[in-house]
Amino acid sequence: MIHVVRYESPEALAEHVAARFASFLTDEPAARMALPTGATPEPVYAGIVEAVRAGVTSFRRAHVFLLDEFGGVPPDAKGRCDVMLHRALLDHVDVTPQHYHRLDPEAEDLAAMCAAYDASMKPALDLMMLGIGRNGHVGMNEPGTSPESATRRVELAPSTTQASVRYFGEGAALPTWGVTIGLSAILAARTIWILATGESKADIVRDVLLDPVSTTRPASLLRGHPDCWFFVDAAAAAKLPVGVLSRG
Ligand code: GLP
Repeated sequence: MIHVVRYESPEALAEHVAARFASFLTDEPAARMALPTGATPEPVYAGIVEAVRAGVTSFRRAHVFLLDEFGGVPPDAKGRCDVMLHRALLDHVDVTPQHYHRLDPEAEDLAAMCAAYDASMKPALDLMMLGIGRNGHVGMNEPGTSPESATRRVELAPSTTQASVRYFGEGAALPTWGVTIGLSAILAARTIWILATGESKADIVRDVLLDPVSTTRPASLLRGHPDCWFFVDAAAAAKLPVGVLSRG
């Protein structure tokens, strides 16, 4: 079951999702969660940082898993997911360093690193937070990915490589591959939150929610999950009929 919740603006979405996250973490202080990067979650992370600074909630007992990571670019490049998550969230909250799990594309044995990552998420994460790519990817699970896919190395769709210029900057080397949590761990999570803002996401939001479920749009597979929440702002929801929405 997928619940679609619409907010008037990206600011309103960020405020509500951050507050919802703070209550979730306060209720389940030892929760294990995967967190995404990209532009969409950044204002949500700003709200979470505020809540932690105000003492409303704490990450001390929580476990944070990085959702995906770009390979073939320097580990300290500003567009690396680990670097982005530190900048937006981890550097400003009280996550216990040993409780932060990152995907390492430089690992000598990449397959072993991925298998260990999958094992450490078993039996299932409590919360999977996601963004969505314009082609319907979640994490770096590009169109065509099997719902049984594990954590692994993936080749990026050319459009995903192109889109990453906004993280790495004009003129920087752009990644053509990455490592990502697979769809099997995403679909196994107890709760999934997926975020989409802005008019550039309106077409994919409509397709994912209204077209038949298909691996050609990996995010559509989330519709079969028992507790999935799709948070959208007015611009991203612009092509949805009113019937599928709840007001945030
Ligand atoms: C990237 C990431 C995804 C992210 C998506 C949307 O390629 N691999 O995890 O959710 O694209 O990013 P943004 O929020 O910047 O639009």
